[in-house]
Amino acid sequence: MQPDHVRIFDTTLRDGEQSPGATMTSAEKLEVAKTLSRLGVDVIEAGFAAASPDDLRAVKTIAEAVGVTGVEGRPAPEPPTICSLARASKQDIDKAAEAVSPAKHARIHTFIATSPIHREHKLRMTKDQVLEKITEMVTYARGFCEDVEFSPEDAGRTEMEFLYDALQAAIEAGASTLNIPDTVGYMMPGEFGERIAMLRENVPGIERAVISVHCHDDLGLAVANSLAAVVNGARQVEVAVNGIGERAGNASLEEVVMALHVRHDLYGIRSQVDTTQLTRASRLVSKVTGMVVQPNKAVVGANAFAHEAGIHQDGMLKHEETYEIMRPEMVGAGKTQLVLGKHSGRHAFANRLGELGYAVSGDGLDKAFARFKKLADKKKSITDADLVALVSDELYQPTEYWRLDALQVGCGTGMPTATVRLIGPDGNTHTAAEVGTGPVDAVYKAIQELVHVPCSLLEYTVQSVTEGIDALGEVSVRVAPHDDDASTDKLNPQYEHSRARVFHGHGANTDVIVASAKAYLAAINRILALTEGKKADSQAAGSAA
Ligand code: KIV
Ligand code: ZN
Repeated sequence: MQPDHVRIFDTTLRDGEQSPGATMTSAEKLEVAKTLSRLGVDVIEAGFAAASPDDLRAVKTIAEAVGVTGVEGRPAPEPPTICSLARASKQDIDKAAEAVSPAKHARIHTFIATSPIHREHKLRMTKDQVLEKITEMVTYARGFCEDVEFSPEDAGRTEMEFLYDALQAAIEAGASTLNIPDTVGYMMPGEFGERIAMLRENVPGIERAVISVHCHDDLGLAVANSLAAVVNGARQVEVAVNGIGERAGNASLEEVVMALHVRHDLYGIRSQVDTTQLTRASRLVSKVTGMVVQPNKAVVGANAFAHEAGIHQDGMLKHEETYEIMRPEMVGAGKTQLVLGKHSGRHAFANRLGELGYAVSGDGLDKAFARFKKLADKKKSITDADLVALVSDELYQPTEYWRLDALQVGCGTGMPTATVRLIGPDGNTHTAAEVGTGPVDAVYKAIQELVHVPCSLLEYTVQSVTEGIDALGEVSVRVAPHDDDASTDKLNPQYEHSRARVFHGHGANTDVIVASAKAYLAAINRILALTEGKKADSQAAGSAA
């Protein structure tokens, strides 16, 4: 590895997916993995294979589809390394090894907590027992895979002397990457950087391994801590698109990459990420996880390149660099263009999608083109933002157990009512009418009357994709399923211990009530996908037994 190259290890599909409600379907995970490959990340942590048979399958599919030859447009000759997380247990490592085995470059990432609070209260293990486990499990993982990463969980709060011993044990057992997680986001940049420097000085054999860092953002310092570590010799940074992840999230991929890029004069370090793909990756991840990006988010927020104050606008007109340290085009956020209209053909449509980074063909293209034509009838000028909303609405939806067929609402100061017709899993149409506190409430009640998947609506947001009265409206919802008994508000015990307790859905349409119905159905279909998948897995396990 070049001393001035930093590896970008993306954990959107693992730590990122652990954010409440961010659960993705296998198809969505694959799409994200392809995007990450096109972006040029070095390592994709594709999941936690031991979490469920579904997670294992998703990692394996990514290893096959992205890890053998990479994907077209990748800015590097080699495909990315595909990695699965595994606790320090043989069962976990077996599953991780199976999941990543198809990849040309496969990695097992195993971890055990090392801090006193975790050792005493969570693991109930002594220091010696932890060291023994590290040696045993890293050695076991090396039996499957040459590339093994080891993480001492909660390294930020681990005694330095014990951290030296833990890392030495991992190196001697054959780990080639040593990841230092600030699991609870407790570290300050100066002290975290110093920790990395001390590890380099005091751990025998550390020069044989790549030092990695994995910082959480509980105090808003994940990116700053990661950069401080790079200054002190870390050459892998673990990040997630839009900074999603457990609690306050992980270091944001786009911020780390752009900081190193814009301040190359200071760091002298490069990543191989194609920065012009950052905005597209951000939008895709936001869509498939339902995690809306705040408008003032650095690099990829809607306002990241907007200049409002008169004095700023005046400066910008005189010289762009007065108030801009990077051009929007550098991150793929070029000016909105009027691209297509009513008379544009399928070829021009597919071409523009390709330029925007969406390789759509076959059935997906047919469906997206039909939606485009309908939209072009209602909306004179169709922008890139409209296309992205439309295509992601069409492509990144879960399996449609229930689909919207028709919708009629009546609203005003009287009694808002909705009549909804759905196509059900049996292929037949089902109709219901309801009264609600407003048109969306009436629609959701009517949908519930047909689908019987009781759940609480935790969050409902609507935003317009572009400016103008004829703009597409995008609705995002988050719901939590209840106990099967609709009369209670209790969380369904089925999800009680699952990380998938909150489900999201999104829908886009020029009519926001239609978009609302689609978003709600998407969330319900996501719940059903999980319950149906679980049923299929237990049936398969039953017939195998
Ligand atoms: O935050 C953390 O410690 C982790 C480890 C599993 C690397 O996610
Ligand atoms: Zn983490």
